[in-house]
Amino acid sequence: MRVAIAGKGGSGKTTISGTLARLLAQSGRQVVAVDADTNPNLATTLGLQPDRAKEIVSLPRTLLKREQQPDGSMTSTFLRDPLQVLDEYGTQAPDGVRLVVMGAVGHGGAG
Ligand SMILES: Nc1ncnc2c1ncn2[C@@H]1O[C@H](COP(=O)(O)OP(=O)(O)O)[C@@H](O)[C@H]1O
Ligand SMILES: [Mg+2]
Repeated sequence: MRVAIAGKGGSGKTTISGTLARLLAQSGRQVVAVDADTNPNLATTLGLQPDRAKEIVSLPRTLLKREQQPDGSMTSTFLRDPLQVLDEYGTQAPDGVRLVVMGAVGHGGAG
């Protein structure tokens, strides 16, 4: 089962996502929570202490190979075994949820 939550800022997406993840894990499911927000804060909703949340390393962009096709479209290829990536970058949170963070903005760029 995959659940994606999207919507207006401040409407409770992170709170609902974290609560659903914890309830599903408590009911015995294996849960991987993926925080794709550019300002990630799912960790605290999942019950991680702020100092542990700060230490989480986001997935690096080098896991994906992006290529332009002759017709101009872009394709993305995942270069690693997803389970290994989960072992390397997953953070164990309360209730058995595993958290992966992928969207943090490292630094501002020119624009
Ligand atoms: N059901 C609710 N009742 C009251 N406050 C809530 C509720 N759900 C979320 N909040 C609060 O609203 C704020 C925004 O919630 P958040 O889940 O971070 O929103 P989003 O992820 O959509 O930006 C947070 O301070 C959160 O604690
Ligand atoms: Mg949010």
